[in-house]
Amino acid sequence: MTTHSNFLMEETWESPESITERMVGDHSRCDQVYAEGETALVGGQWEAGEKLLRTFIAGMQTHIALEEQVLFPAIEEATGMVEGPTSVMRIEHEQIRSLLEELSRALESKDDDRILAIGETLNILIQQHNLKEENMLYPMSDAHLKDKKKELLQKMQSLATQGNHGTSPLE
Ligand SMILES: [Fe+2]
Ligand SMILES: [Fe+2]
Repeated sequence: MTTHSNFLMEETWESPESITERMVGDHSRCDQVYAEGETALVGGQWEAGEKLLRTFIAGMQTHIALEEQVLFPAIEEATGMVEGPTSVMRIEHEQIRSLLEELSRALESKDDDRILAIGETLNILIQQHNLKEENMLYPMSDAHLKDKKKELLQKMQSLATQGNHGTSPLE
């Protein structure tokens, strides 16, 4: 099975104006795919729901990989802050990643109740995490990384198109 991890790119790479715009766009696309998957599942459309939720998992894994491998190191280098906001975000990513893996396992076992329960916990965590990035970390990135914006966006694009960035058996 080919993964859906490139969906962030396929639909949306349109020369974003800023790092904030590009990353906030990922957040809302992931939210939307999750919501569609949940709706499908609740409506009894198992196959469509599973596909969408797997797309969501892959999208989140890709997005987190872009942050940890491209954006955060650049912020850390520019600000000299390694123990600052990026380290808090990395810890939260670990929590998100482990719930994404749980969600993936729940999909394998086709356990609707468990899928929805994990999804709810995951969603709360992601919304809180995203708010911190959107209100603080991304604007800070745009302020500190003005000269590197193009290079960073290109790096993220090429990483996002490389395939599976998670540890779940998606491929
Ligand atoms: Fe993040
Ligand atoms: Fe993010």
